[in-house]
Amino acid sequence: MDIIQTVKKYVLSVNKEYADTASDHYDFWEQHIQFVVKESLVLAETYNADKEIVELGALLHDIALMTKTGTRGEHHINGKNIAEQLLSKFDYPYDKKERVLNCILHHRSSKNAENIEELCVADADIIAHFDNIPMCFNSAYRSNITDIPDLINYFAGDYADLSDRTKETFNSRYENIMNVLFGDFYKTE
Ligand SMILES: [Fe+2]
Ligand SMILES: [Fe+2]
Repeated sequence: MDIIQTVKKYVLSVNKEYADTASDHYDFWEQHIQFVVKESLVLAETYNADKEIVELGALLHDIALMTKTGTRGEHHINGKNIAEQLLSKFDYPYDKKERVLNCILHHRSSKNAENIEELCVADADIIAHFDNIPMCFNSAYRSNITDIPDLINYFAGDYADLSDRTKETFNSRYENIMNVLFGDFYKTE
C-alpha cells in the first residue's frame, strides 16, 4: 500500500473512533476532511504544487482534533507532533516528512503559508466550508449566528482568509454561492 492509502486508512480509523465515541458524534471525514483533500488537490494542480505533500497535509491537518489531543487552539502544533510519529513509523523520508508537517503546522491561515504546498492546504481548508454549506449553517446557528447580515459576514470572513491568488480563482464561485444563499441581502460593490 502506498503512503497516501496507508495514511488515509489511519485517518478513517481515527474518524470512526471519534464518530462512534465522541459526544457530538461528528463525522470529520464526511463533513470536512474529504472536501479539504479534494480542494487541496485541485489547488495543487492549478499551482503546480507537489500533490503527495499536499494530500498528506490535507489528510492529517486536523488529526489532533480527531484524536482529541490537546486544545483546539493548539491543534496545529499537536497535529504536527502526531503526524511526525505516524510518518516516522511508516519510514517516510525525512525531507518529505518535514514538508508535510509544515503543511499541518501552518494550515490555520494562508498568511502563515511559507510555500505553495502549505498554501494549498490552508486555502483548501477554507474552500471546504463552501463544499458543505449545510454544515456551515449548522455551526453558525450553534454559535447563535442567525441574522442574515451576520451569516453573510460569517461566509465573507472565510473568503477573506483565502490567499490573494486563490481569492481570484475562487471569486466567481464565491459570488454565485453568496447570491444563491442571500439574494438581495448580498450586495456586491
Ligand atoms: Fe484545523
Ligand atoms: Fe480543517
